[in-house]
Amino acid sequence: MEDQEVLSYREETNLHFNSKAYLQRFTDPHDLWYHAAILKCWHTFYQEHGKEFDPTKTSMLEFGGGPTVWDLISVTPFVSSITFTDFADTSRTEIQLWKSKNPDGHNWKPYIEYVVRTLEDNNDPNAVNLREQEIRDKIHQLAPCDARADKPLGDNIQEEFDIIHTNLCLEAVCDDKETFYRYLKNVCQYLKPKGCMLIVTACECHSYQCWKGEDNLHALYLESEDLDMACKTAGLTVLKKHIVQDASAVNATSNSKYYQFTVAQKN
Ligand SMILES: C[S@@+](CC[C@H](N)C(=O)[O-])C[C@H]1O[C@@H](n2cnc3c(N)ncnc32)[C@H](O)[C@@H]1O
Repeated sequence: MEDQEVLSYREETNLHFNSKAYLQRFTDPHDLWYHAAILKCWHTFYQEHGKEFDPTKTSMLEFGGGPTVWDLISVTPFVSSITFTDFADTSRTEIQLWKSKNPDGHNWKPYIEYVVRTLEDNNDPNAVNLREQEIRDKIHQLAPCDARADKPLGDNIQEEFDIIHTNLCLEAVCDDKETFYRYLKNVCQYLKPKGCMLIVTACECHSYQCWKGEDNLHALYLESEDLDMACKTAGLTVLKKHIVQDASAVNATSNSKYYQFTVAQKN
């Protein structure tokens, strides 16, 4: 019998989660409707609550950020440092390319412009470039994470954060609800008491593609009530939920029925 190559989860993920392909959805008009709606959720939350955070000492963790920084645009002015994590090596490479202004890095300028000019109504000619640089500068750590581990950030990161964002991640890496609850709880160990967790979840979804024509990737089918249970199990109180849905819109790369934006606070 021929030896069969057995790929590790990391190799599988790097192979099937195509970070460059995933970034294409951030340039395609079909995905912009829900991206704009979710950008508005972060914007609204930080306009209302950002002043409650001291920008000189508020720490933030991005858990499973993939190759994207879209959720950092609104939060950055309110934090002093961002620890950015993702499981896939290829995703962290994309973030590093962008952070170091490498020409091969993704162009996040249109998203930053949308938040700064349209949502924040800031017409200062330098505002977009300044925000972009501020995000780059505040990402002070780029590290691996693994939601499956008891310590998802490994031995090197042990601190607790004031804010954690995790978007479209945990539902993509587990097979059943109990595991989802456990993974969220694992991530919550890094949140300070009374710290804020902002979660974006693709709901009623079975699978997604990084981009059209790419492999079908698994997603756990979750409904809004499952997120309530997950938060409760993780010791979080849900403060706000917002459903993002547009029946007329086409989402070419996922079969999710809606997205939920959840804000929760650690008890
Ligand atoms: C659909 S992407 C979401 C990316 C990004 N957060 C966003 O908002 O678009 C799912 C992410 O889960 C990451 N991932 C895969 N396995 C993981 C694991 N075991 N633990 C944490 N993240 C994992 C992938 O690398 C990928 O970046």
